This record gives sequence, structure tokens and C-alpha cells, in this order.
Amino acid sequence: MNIEVSDLIFEARQITKNYPGTCALNCVDFSLKKGEIHALVGENGAGKSTLMQIMAGVLKPDHGSLLLNGSEIHLQNPNHAQHLGISLVFQELALCPNMSVAENIFTNIQPVKRLDFINFNEMYDVTRASLEAFGVELDPQAPLRNYNLATQQIVEIARAIQRNASVLLLDEPTSSIGSRETERLFQVIRTLRDHGVGVVYVSHKLDEVFKISDRITVLKDGNLVGTVNTRETTPDDVVRMMVGREFDKMFPQSKAVQTKPLLKVNQLSGKGFSDVSLEAKSGEVLGLFGLTGAGRSELARAIFGIDPPASGDILLDDRMVHITDPRQAMQLGIAYVTEDRKIDGLFLEMSLKNNVASTNLDAISQGMMINNRRLNTLAKEWTQNLQIKSRSVEQFVNYLSGGNQQKVLFAKWLARNPRVLIADEPTRGVDVGAKADIHALLHERARNGAAVMVISSELPEVMGLSDRIVVMRAGKVVGVFESAEATEEQIVACAAGATGNGKREYEVIQ
Ligand SMILES: Nc1ncnc2c1ncn2[C@@H]1O[C@H](COP(=O)(O)OP(=O)(O)OP(=O)(O)O)[C@@H](O)[C@H]1O
Ligand SMILES: [Mg+2]
Repeated sequence: MNIEVSDLIFEARQITKNYPGTCALNCVDFSLKKGEIHALVGENGAGKSTLMQIMAGVLKPDHGSLLLNGSEIHLQNPNHAQHLGISLVFQELALCPNMSVAENIFTNIQPVKRLDFINFNEMYDVTRASLEAFGVELDPQAPLRNYNLATQQIVEIARAIQRNASVLLLDEPTSSIGSRETERLFQVIRTLRDHGVGVVYVSHKLDEVFKISDRITVLKDGNLVGTVNTRETTPDDVVRMMVGREFDKMFPQSKAVQTKPLLKVNQLSGKGFSDVSLEAKSGEVLGLFGLTGAGRSELARAIFGIDPPASGDILLDDRMVHITDPRQAMQLGIAYVTEDRKIDGLFLEMSLKNNVASTNLDAISQGMMINNRRLNTLAKEWTQNLQIKSRSVEQFVNYLSGGNQQKVLFAKWLARNPRVLIADEPTRGVDVGAKADIHALLHERARNGAAVMVISSELPEVMGLSDRIVVMRAGKVVGVFESAEATEEQIVACAAGATGNGKREYEVIQ
């Protein structure tokens, strides 16, 4: 591939980074041109985030060098990198939930009036304007924790863009946002590219990668596999470079047989949803689809007792249950794999094994004591089942790559063998291979008699995985479809509130 050296804005040469027992990067070369969107892909644990963090001054490499506009730089810390025009959006959110939206965007770069007084009005105006580019209306003064994960991710992106970066590093920026926001993000990135900004884009969503990128670099187990021009390659080729094998089918194919209602929700209302009635059957996968803010996670949180509902009924096996906290839900055989693993799901400062222990105390305790042998067996079994890449079950979860953390979260709940499994964005941040494994596991659970509810913003995932799909909009159920009979267009139109072909409202098929 011919690249004029003068085109290059940023270069990483022969970067090596070792952790105890792991070589995260091994002599990796990476280059970014002015006005280019360069995708960085690879399986979970391939070294993508490590490389991004080295390029943003968060981590120091063991060997290798960085060049900005042809001159070698030695980044001392992220502030230093930002000062040089290099901005990183972290894979996991790095915001302060208790500060306001505007303060988060302007941390360290507040506009000042005379005498160093912060110019709050300007800060609020600019915040409003920069979020409008994403079609998001927020109160700049409200604390960030008032908003859901998707919105927080957009604030994080707006924050990076606000810094007038010439190099923008985005580590899985769309893992929590819906298709509408992703489309808007793409518009923003393209505009930046047209202004000469170089963008590095890490994602497991290959359709996005092919839509937005000019070049693609593939890493595998810390090694550079290669860099290709997007226009000269295909998704199949890239997958082959990533995993070294082909994928013929993404979704499990078996059909639900012998289903009977297991979980019923009648006219349930609560925070973020109202008057929701639905039924999840034993043996089936029920998809819950909707745009960001449709109330799907809120409904799940209510069923699981995190935010108990204000009114309405929940029935298990036709018997009314009153769930007022998650422990009760767990005793009833309900499990909820949360959307936000960092806040609700994982103990990052604990080992993989103790994370599994935290949800399975009943199975591994003898009296007041934990039976360590049983715990080890259980943790190892699930590390194996989900192919979690970890040095041992003793490894702390915060040292695992993002996708492997997601698998630990899954292991915690699947090990309980729940009758009702609610999975909220179950494949967020996991690579194509692991995604197929998780899909197969969810299917197997359902076919073995569980009722599996899957919340996902990825329509192909919902369609490929579910037997039936419930569509929510603005806190209400607006449609129920048999997946085999529905089209993507119908479901999107229903979720967006469009009247099909501008004529009729979609019917509820039941
Ligand atoms: N602080 C750390 N201590 C020990 N090992 C680490 C640490 N941080 C990362 N690693 C290891 O380095 C390897 C690369 O991790 P990295 O986070 O860069 O992967 P990734 O490509 O971003 O994966 P994902 O797609 O899952 O986000 C992994 O094996 C990971 O477990
Ligand atoms: Mg990562």
C-alpha cells in the first residue's frame, strides 16, 4: 500500500507492551493519515484498547515509539496527549456521574471570563449545541447520572470532540447506543474527517466498520495481522484475518417447540414504562426491541426487583409474585444480566472466581462457609464454557479485556441455571466468535425450558435470536411480532412510531 509519508498524522512504530503473563502487544505498527477513518479490529483481548491507551498517553509502552506529524513524541499522561491534539473515548465510560453534563464535557477546559471565572453560560450553550449535533436534547446543568447509558456515551463522545482534536481515538463508541445515534455519530465523524481529523475507530460491529472506515487494521493476540483498504476487502476476509476461520451462520437455527407461559406481566407500570403486558414462554427466546429510551431496561429492572413497579402484576407459572428486591427475584429463579456491567454487574476489584461466587452462594456454601473446591470447579467450568481469556480464575476482573469482562458477567448468572433469564445487551463488546457462542448458549437455555428475554439495540441480533419480538416505544408495548413473519422494516417502523408507508399504524400481531 502506497502512503505518502507527508499524509501521516500519527504513527505507532514497533509497539510492545507486556503484562505479567500476557503479551498484550508485540512489535505492532499502526499509522493514521490526515482525514482518514482507520478501523482497528480483532477478537476480545487482541490488544486494541491497549494500543489506543498507549496512543493517548494513558499507558506507556515497553518498547516502540510514537510520531505526531513526523516528530517523535513522549507522552507523559492523557492531559499531555490532549494538549497535543490527541483525544480518546474510552471503551468503558470515564465520566463523573455526579457532575453536570456540561461539567463533564468541559473537565479541565472550561471557558474562562476575566480573572479565571468559569463562564457557565458559554459552557451551557456550547454543551447544548454539541449535543444537538447528535439529536440529543439534554439539560446541561443536570447531573449526568440522570441519563441512561446510551446518552452518557454520547456525552463522552461530545467531550472528546469538544477538545478540537486532530487525532480522535474512539474505543467501541457505539457499544451502548442505538442505530439512530450511531448514524448521527457517523455524520459527525465524517465531518471531522473532511476537516482533516484522523479518526481511529475500534468496533466489533463489522457492518459499521465497513460503512465508515477507509482502512482496517487487524490485531490478533497482540500481533499485527495486517492493514487493508476497506474498499478492497470484504467482511468475510476481515473475519478470517481476525479469527483464522470462517463463520457460516451467525444465529442458531432451531425453532421453539412446546412452549408454555412462564412469566407473565399484566398492566405493569413503573419508572420509565407504563401499562406493559407481555408473556415470556418456557422454551422460547423473546426479543425486546426499541429505540434508546423506549423503557426496555427499566421494565427488566422492575421485573428483577431493582426498581419495583408502581402498579400491575407479575406472574410466574400463573401464580402472582411480589418482587421487591433482586434477592427475591433470584430465589424465584430469575436472573438479569445487566446492561451496564461496570455499575450493576461486576465487582471489578475482585477475582473472576469471586464474581461467580457472588451470585452462587447457595450452590457453593456449606453452612456459613464457602466450599472452595466447589467454587473453583464452578468458576473453571464457566470459564471453559464461555472461553473466557484469563490467566486463572484468580485473576482480577479489571485486568481482563472488555469483552472478557462481559463473559464473566454472563458466567455469574448462567451458572445459576435460571428459569427466567433476562439478558440486557448480552453481546455488548464481544467479538464475532464469542457472540456466536453467547447466542448458542441463550438458545440452548431456552430449548431446555427456560424463558429467555433478550434486550438488544441490534436489530439483526433480535431478529436472528428471537422466536417472538415485543417492540416498545416511549415506555409502552407497541407491537408483538413472530420473528419468522416480520421484516426489519416493519419492526423499525413500529419502534420509531412511523405509520407504515405513511398510511397505517402497524397492527399488533399476537
Ligand atoms: N492491567 C492489566 N493487567 C494484566 N493484563 C492486562 C491488563 N490490561 C489488559 N490486559 C490483558 O492484555 C490483553 C489485551 O487487552 P485489551 O484490553 O487491549 O484487548 P481488546 O482488544 O481491547 O479486547 P476487547 O475487544 O475485549 O475490548 C488481554 O489479554 C488482557 O487480559
Ligand atoms: Mg477493548
